[in-house]
Amino acid sequence: MRIHLTRHLLYVLLASGLIYACANETSLADNNESGMADAEFTASKTNYEAICANCHGAQMQAFVDRQWKYGTAPDTLFHVIKTGLFEDTTAHSFADQLDDEAIHEMVAYIQKGIAKVEEYDFDGIEGPTGTVATEAATVLIDTIARDLSVPWGMTFLPNGDLLFTERGGQLYRLTPSGEKQEISGVPEVLARGQGGLLDVELHPQFDENGWVYLSYSKSKQEGEETLSTTAIARGKLVGNRLEGTKDIFVALPYATTRHHYGSRLAFDPEGYLYFSVGDRGNRDKNPQNLDNHCGKIHRIKDDGSIPEDNPFVAQEGAMPSIYSYGHRNPQGLAMQPGTGAIWDHEHGPRGGDEVNMIEKGKNYGWPVISYGINYNGTTFTTDLEKADMEQPDLYWVPSIAPCGSTFVSGDLFPGWKGDLLVGSLRYHYINRCIMEDGKIVGEEKLFKNIGRVRAVEESPDGHIYIAVEGPGFIFRLSPVES
Ligand code: HEC
Repeated sequence: MRIHLTRHLLYVLLASGLIYACANETSLADNNESGMADAEFTASKTNYEAICANCHGAQMQAFVDRQWKYGTAPDTLFHVIKTGLFEDTTAHSFADQLDDEAIHEMVAYIQKGIAKVEEYDFDGIEGPTGTVATEAATVLIDTIARDLSVPWGMTFLPNGDLLFTERGGQLYRLTPSGEKQEISGVPEVLARGQGGLLDVELHPQFDENGWVYLSYSKSKQEGEETLSTTAIARGKLVGNRLEGTKDIFVALPYATTRHHYGSRLAFDPEGYLYFSVGDRGNRDKNPQNLDNHCGKIHRIKDDGSIPEDNPFVAQEGAMPSIYSYGHRNPQGLAMQPGTGAIWDHEHGPRGGDEVNMIEKGKNYGWPVISYGINYNGTTFTTDLEKADMEQPDLYWVPSIAPCGSTFVSGDLFPGWKGDLLVGSLRYHYINRCIMEDGKIVGEEKLFKNIGRVRAVEESPDGHIYIAVEGPGFIFRLSPVES
């Protein structure tokens, strides 16, 4: 077949033609919201999956946020499919598999698919301050901190002060009057790439014991090389000083990469600490093997020791802290009030960001199954499902780059109660995942253009706080009578 002979060359073209800086919403090829006749839609979907998905992604990831070379005019698309790419009119011709009518339908199918990305074109929408009406709440947005760099993690002290990290390596207390005080005694961090001082969480009995937990990127020198990994430290907060700060977990192995640290922290109602460690960029070695800590969600006791009922404690060669595996880079972890379940969300490659309810011992599939493709447009797997691997509760194509999340548990926003709010780094908004009976049943985009979202947290009195970066701000949401 002609395509096979030239596939390699095509990949090279693809790789050199476009490099994406970062990933990117919801299944588009699945639903016919397009107005196309159902039969045509289904026929095109079948053709697409059989002929095109291998190279362009099962969910059209290579098209949805592509820098088009020839454009998306129907005639152009028709030519590219029937005759071939303009500079080479044989390698990309599908005329022997699709007749003209099928190609016209395919063109319509692709155009409907790529229209999805326009949902994220928020130009012209008002900035983040002031009063904003949303579907289920009218909200006042106040700026409570400004001139920040990359605020990464937030949590609340019992007296109402906010603790937040700056990725560069600082921990701050923000008082209700807006005064920012630095807290000393934090671990030394390697603030490079995606690393630095990351999440912060309080012990559930903080009132009695003062323990504060931090995740960060820890480094060590090996000859000329600086290696780094994800570590969890805890210290006792006395005034504005963390005392006796000590690592209670250091992920193995260390790596030379500076990305995919994971690093979100969450306690469950029983007092176990869960945290995420990303695959550190080694997807082939780490996430599917239990002999290392990377590409996993872990569960430990408050002092770092291992709960006896962790799923792999009895398995030889397996790291005993592992609670679930097959993760890419989870930068969100939130405990669901009521059920106590832990939910993660993780960055996919290009397309394929996921939200998952985390279950003990389960395999979430990375990189064996994924709704994403490589950044350069090539495919590393065409498998979307497999026995013994979990399907996401929600996924996004294109990727929204989800970062930071919280469940809404208080009474200040009754229309959002029980929902999961997830920040989007890439598209600068908050995604409300509407929950019913433990399932995500809908979505709403809130606060478009609010900035690159790093963290979303609910305060004990029910306000929602949002931290964005570059420039860094912290915003507080309060309800307004509508
Ligand atoms: C063997 C891999 C492969 C298969 C199969 C394949 N394509 Fe392509 N396609 C490519 C490559 C490579 C390019 C060029 C990308 C570039 O230059 O950046 C491309 C380009 C395109 C473009 C033009 C994009 C632009 O920028 O203007 C369209 C449209 C397209 N393909 C549609 C399809 C459709 C529809 C099918 C199925 C009928 C299909 N392709 C099957 C590899 C493939």
